[in-house]
Formats: sequence, structure tokens, C-alpha cells
Amino acid sequence: MSESFDAVDIIRTKRDKGELSSEQISWVVDAYTREVVADEQMSALAMAILLNGMSRREIGDWTAAMIASGERMDFSTLSRPTADKHSTGGVGDKITLPLAPLVAACGVAVPQLSGRGLGHTGGTLDKLEAVPGWRAALSNEEIISQLEDVGAVICAAGSGLAPADKRLYSLRDVTGTVEAIPLIASSIMSKKIAEGTGVLVLDVKVGSGAFMKTESDARELARTMVELGTDAGVHTVALLTDMSTPLGLTAGNGLEVRESVEVLAGGGPADVVELTLALAREMLEGAGVTGVDPADALADGRAMDVWRRMIAAQGGDPDAPMPTARETHDVTAGTDGVLTRLDALAVGVAAWRLGAGRARKEDPVQAAAGVELHARPGDRVRAGQPLLTLHTDTPERFERAVEALADAWSIGEEPVDAPRIVIDRIA
Ligand code: URA
Repeated sequence: MSESFDAVDIIRTKRDKGELSSEQISWVVDAYTREVVADEQMSALAMAILLNGMSRREIGDWTAAMIASGERMDFSTLSRPTADKHSTGGVGDKITLPLAPLVAACGVAVPQLSGRGLGHTGGTLDKLEAVPGWRAALSNEEIISQLEDVGAVICAAGSGLAPADKRLYSLRDVTGTVEAIPLIASSIMSKKIAEGTGVLVLDVKVGSGAFMKTESDARELARTMVELGTDAGVHTVALLTDMSTPLGLTAGNGLEVRESVEVLAGGGPADVVELTLALAREMLEGAGVTGVDPADALADGRAMDVWRRMIAAQGGDPDAPMPTARETHDVTAGTDGVLTRLDALAVGVAAWRLGAGRARKEDPVQAAAGVELHARPGDRVRAGQPLLTLHTDTPERFERAVEALADAWSIGEEPVDAPRIVIDRIA
């Protein structure tokens, strides 16, 4: 087949800060999926995009081309509206686990197609796989029928959704081109639009434990994604939320499931509850459900009922205790005072080194590994008190995890406020 464009011309155009036409973008994404454009050519183009950016029109065309590379799901036959949440990823971010059953308990179906963790941020599927028997892979028919019967599904995104993104994301991961806002926005939004949700609430994280380290980058990413979703007919809202310190009191797969169940039982850390409710309210409002307070569904056990049915529908045992690590190690405070800072990235790296995360896609993760926090910024601590407990099945990992925590916290004399969770809303 003769090709309409030449990859080298396209790379040169972006290298020289030019704008690519809609036809060029649609061709290059399609030709990359067909393996006509080689990995080294796409790497060069991704780097040119990272350095020189893309116009809004180019980002929209790039997203549309990635959607067109695969299938689109259709939830229009369901008897209730659909809403989904996507987080750009953070440390201790287990919010999907209580949120999906909570929103379903309030009358909106939640198709939560999720991924695994890579690097220091955890993946929702890895967390749920700590539940004995739970199965991540579902067919499209199983997803639809679980959404109708239970109202919530958390499962692996099938290989049919935006396959161009799958190839491109792996390439970006090894070529230093993950951090390009046009590529992140189109990567996330192509999958979410192809998934077919009616409402999308984005949780865009800012801070040391997030992709976006500055508020201005996070705002730009949020705005770009909201525009892409809105243009595609998806009701899209973004919350900008803090990721300077871990969410809640746990980072690690089984530990985070345990904390999520505490939230579903009406307890759990205040920041996890606050963010879960803020995102639930956005999802319900977007879906047109009014007069329902999700806090009631947490308090009266309705969200817990949906959680139990959701886990059981995918082969999991909701009553099974979470696995516990073979070894633990406490990290203690050196002085009395107020914990003024506890760094999300350092805790994420420590949890990863303990075995909660993976370095390569194929690596296994430990269900019980991770970090448990005993204090949060703003809390008073005493010398010798445990600040963190490290959990792992392989104690030779403690040393490297402790190294990651060398400059992870500060203890001061003056009281400080805990960081605000929701920084802004972008619609
Ligand atoms: N998550 C994605 O799905 N894609 C990116 O590019 C970054 C985060």
C-alpha cells in the first residue's frame, strides 16, 4: 500500500516548531499502529512534541486518531447513567475502591477500567488482586452485565481500547517522553472517550508524588483534558488535588484495600473520606442525580453492600482477611514536635522498594508490602514514636526502603495546617 505521508517530514515539521495537519496526525498514529512508522521515528516525534508542544487542534486530532485505532464501548443500553473517575496517579491513592461502589449505591453505574502500577504510583488492579480470588480480566459482556446487576465494575481495560496508546505509552516510558502534557492528555482521554462513559471526573494530582509537580502544569493538563472530553460529548470536570503527602495512612496493595473497607464501613482517614465524597458528588451531579447525599450511603452501609457484591461478582471473597507481611520495621521520630512535612514521593518509592510496586511490566507485586503512616502533616509527634511501619515479605528490602525515606519528613516547633485536599475545580 502506498503511504500518504513520510514520517521523516512529519518529524522535521514538529522539530522545527511547525503545526501538523489533521491528515498528517491521523496518518502517523495509524501508520505507527500498523508498524509502518518505526519505534525510533515515533520516539523522535514524541520528543519533538515534548519540546515544542502542540496546539489544541493538534491535541484533539491526536486523541481522535488514538480512539480510531481501536474499538469503542457502548453503555447506552444500560438502565442508568454512567460516570467514571480517572486519577493521574499518586501515593496511597486508593480512592477508586470506595468511590465506585459508593456512586453505584447512589444510582449511577460506574465502569472503572483500570491499570496496573508502574514506578512509585500504585495501580488499582494490583490493589484489588490482594483480595483472594478476585479476577481483573472481564469480557465486554461481563462488564455490561455486572454494571446492570451490581452497578460498579473495576476491571482491566481490554486490549481493544486505544491500542495506539498502549504501544506509544510503552515507548514513552523508555524514551523520557512521558511528561509531555499533550501526550498525557491524549493518552488518558483517548481511553476514557473510547470507554464510552457519559460523565468523567478527573482527579489531577499536584505535588511531589504526582506526575505534575507544579500547580501551573497541573492546571494546564486539567484544562486540556476537560476541553478534550467536552468536545467529545462527555460531561467532564477536573478537581486539582494535593499529592505533596500520601493520601490516607497506607501505601501498598493489601494495606490500601483494608483502609478502603474502613471508609466503606463509615470510618477511615478524614482526607480519604473527603476526597471520595468530593469526587462522588461531582459524578452524581454530572449524571443528573440530585437530592442524594453520598455521605448517607457511606454511613448506612449501602456502599459497603455494593462493594461486597462487586468483589464477589469477580470471584473475590469480601470476608477474607487481607494478607499480612512476614516482616515489619518501624521508623521512628527523632525529636518531639509537629510533623510539618511527609513527602509523598519518598513514601511511594519506599513502598515500591518494599515490593508493593514493579520496575518492569512483567514483575510480580507483593500483596502485603507497603508503608503504614502513624502521623500526618499537622500532627504532634514525640521522640521515639513510630512515624511509619514498613511491611514486606522480603526483609532484605528494608535497607533500600529506609534509604528512600532519608529526607522524607520534617518536624518543627510551630503548629501547621494539614494540606488542603481539593485545591480547585476546573470545568
Ligand atoms: N496515564 C496514562 O494513561 N497516560 C499517560 O500518558 C500518563 C498517565
